[in-house]
Amino acid sequence: MYQPAITGSGVFTPTQVITNDELVLSFNAYADRFNSQHAEAIAAGEVQAKAHSSSEFIMNASGIMQRHVMDKDGVLDPEVMHPLLRQRTDDEPGIMAEMAMDACSKALAQAGRAPDEVDLVICAASNHERAYPAIAIEVQQLLGAGGFAFDMNVACSSATFGLQAAADMIRSGSVRCAVVVNPEICSGHLEWRDRDCHFIFGDVCTATVLERAEDAQGAHFLVTSTRCATQFSNNIRNNNGFLRRSRPAGTVDRRDMQFMQNGRKVFKEVLPLVVSHISGHLADSGVGADDLRRLWLHQANKTMNDFIGRKVLGRVPEADEQPNILQDYANTSSAGSIIAFSQYSDDMVPGDKGVICSFGAGYSVGSVLLERA
Ligand code: COA
Repeated sequence: MYQPAITGSGVFTPTQVITNDELVLSFNAYADRFNSQHAEAIAAGEVQAKAHSSSEFIMNASGIMQRHVMDKDGVLDPEVMHPLLRQRTDDEPGIMAEMAMDACSKALAQAGRAPDEVDLVICAASNHERAYPAIAIEVQQLLGAGGFAFDMNVACSSATFGLQAAADMIRSGSVRCAVVVNPEICSGHLEWRDRDCHFIFGDVCTATVLERAEDAQGAHFLVTSTRCATQFSNNIRNNNGFLRRSRPAGTVDRRDMQFMQNGRKVFKEVLPLVVSHISGHLADSGVGADDLRRLWLHQANKTMNDFIGRKVLGRVPEADEQPNILQDYANTSSAGSIIAFSQYSDDMVPGDKGVICSFGAGYSVGSVLLERA
């Protein structure tokens, strides 16, 4: 058995940014157009008028101030309201692979590893741009990595579940150097015309390098334990899939082909699940809450994270104990906790312990206990 360690991480951040004010301006223009186009039906009570969104609500309800996206123009055009992403030919890299290359290169540079030393690539994300061949295999080829590669999807917990899969393979000796990459184009599965959720997501790609601790070239984090859990729920759901075209005529509803959630229920049901998951994992691993230097939590909602931090630590966390990045990135699905880890781990010293924890659709919860070596 080998001791797995995270030896590098990297983040690809799209250059285009949408602030809450820009988002709300566009949504309200869309709502006004909709209302004037359907004025008669609205007056007759047949169609419900669209209410305006507000930056103040978004900030108060979520803590999100802006999001990065792969295509700002399409998202903000009231006539379009979704990203316009060029269809690539089969001969050129896909958009997820392109994002992945940037994040993987940064992570490998930090680990001091050449791409041809990698013998496992896992592309773990909430959505994949095609069914097959796997995005991970495309990334493996573009990197010039060896071994094997596969895609996996556990929605917002894709990254932590991917880390567990890679860490287990390193522990057993079946792979020696793994990259887990998370290209999350959340703008493509968000319904930007739905006021209840149009502010939630952003785009990003994260990558982590895992190796045997004995192979580490520099500063690294021992993966001391991982734990994954799932419990079925329809409260976060996206019905898009390969059987879409097989539905009888007239039964395809575009809305359910995008992200849908019952946000209040998610809030209420997921919080206790996450708190007991982290607390149980810590207790079973002999790690006290007081031993934790940092929590790198899933980035969906600030109130949610504040609550989890308070319950797990038994007190209000200090600002640097539970760093949030969602104010800058919004919810980036499985990548959120990895962005937090990547941006807030350099200051940790040998012996410092922390936990990466994701939670989301499924429901799914994944926690990864780390110790700075
Ligand atoms: N602008 C202004 N008002 C809005 C609005 C917007 N964009 N969206 C909703 N509102 C209104 C609602 O219509 C509602 O009005 P009402 O009280 O008159 O009915 C009110 O604001 C409260 O809406 P609600 O949806 O209950 O807000 P909330 O406080 O639950 O916050 C979320 C919404 C989505 C931010 C919150 O529920 C959440 O973060 N849940 C967990 C999400 C999560 O983790 N999901 C995982 C995704 S991977």
